This record gives sequence, C-alpha cells and structure tokens, in this order.
Amino acid sequence: MIHTMQQTAVDELLSLRLRDLKESIGGLGADVYQKQETVRMKTAAIILISGFLLFNGFSHAEASTAKRFDKTTKTCRLITYQDVRDGYKLFQSDCKSCHYRGNKEHAKFLYSESKVRKGWNRVFATKYTRCAKNGSWSKLTAQQLAVINDYLFQNAADTVGPNAIPIGKLG
Ligand code: HEC
Repeated sequence: MIHTMQQTAVDELLSLRLRDLKESIGGLGADVYQKQETVRMKTAAIILISGFLLFNGFSHAEASTAKRFDKTTKTCRLITYQDVRDGYKLFQSDCKSCHYRGNKEHAKFLYSESKVRKGWNRVFATKYTRCAKNGSWSKLTAQQLAVINDYLFQNAADTVGPNAIPIGKLG
C-alpha cells in the first residue's frame, strides 16, 4: 500500500517534471521561431531597400532632384521643378528668339539636347558664345541665367538613352 502511494507520488512528480520539460522545449521552439521571424523580416527589409535603391539609380526620370555645381557662383544648386520650368520659359523667350530652327542668317538651332551637361555648364560658366560676348544676354540676370542653365542641364543630351549618366550627380 505504502509502496503504491510512494509510487504514485513519484509518478506524479515525474509527470510534472515531464510537463515542465515539454513546456520549456516548446518555449525554446517559440524562441527559435521568433529569431527566424526576425531574420526573415530583416532580409525582407534589406531586399526592399536595395530594390528601392536600385530602382532609384536606374531611373534618371523627373522623380529625383538634380544637383549641379555652378561654377559662376561656386555653389551647389539643388534644382527644383520651378527652376526647370522657369528655365524652360526663359530659354524659349530669350534664347530661342534667335536660336530657332530655320534662322539661317542668324544663330543656329539650339535645343536642350544640343549639348551634354558639361557642355551647357561650360557655356554659362565661361560665356564664350558670340551672343554672350556681344551683349545679347545682358538683359538676363545672373539668377535667370542660372535657371536656364538648370533647365538645360536637366534635359541635356546625356540625360536620355542607354548611355545616360544618372541625373542627381554633380555635373
Ligand atoms: C540676339 C540673338 C541671340 C540670342 C538672344 C541668343 N543667342 Fe546664342 N548665339 C547667337 C549667335 C549669332 C551665335 C553665333 C552663331 C552660332 O553659333 O549659332 C550664338 C551662339 C551661341 C552658342 C554657340 C553655339 C555652339 O554650337 O556652341 C550657344 C551655346 C548659344 N548661342 C547659346 C545661347 C543661349 C543659352 C542663349 C540664351 C541665354 C542665347 N544663346 C541667346 C545669337 C543669339
């Protein structure tokens, strides 16, 4: 009788111990699962971020703001949409007034892709053109010339096509 009672107590203790063990093993499992989940989430985040960065690097499109080092003022210009729009309008009204297609006796046809970014920057930095020298630019302020440069820089010949250099780099 005593023996059986002892046996039962031992059995009970053992089964309790077993339950404890099972629980702790279960807990371990949950722990491992939690870690795996964290790793999975981190991996997903890394894939997402690198995908985003890659996409950003490949698409030179209007989405990013271009940066341009302006030699005239020795500053870095962060080109805004407004700058590009203003520059476009001024280019149409104050440059294309002479540089339109078919102006034979006068200036030759110019558009944003007539030059690469470096070329346009050189035009405005050195002002080597005949029109800049003979005073045809004199009614334009430094700020207006800067936004025309912004527009031409943003839409220059080397900003489109398979060999395009990603915009956003200092030119
Ligand atoms: C009054 C007319 C006139 C205006 C306005 C004018 N230009 Fe000119 N531009 C000329 C003439 C003339 C030449 C010399 C002939 C040529 O190369 O087309 C010239 C030459 C140039 C050249 C050299 C062409 C080359 O292939 O390198 C560039 C670049 C240029 N102009 C840009 C501009 C820009 C930018 C503006 C506006 C800020 C402008 N021009 C406004 C008349 C004008």
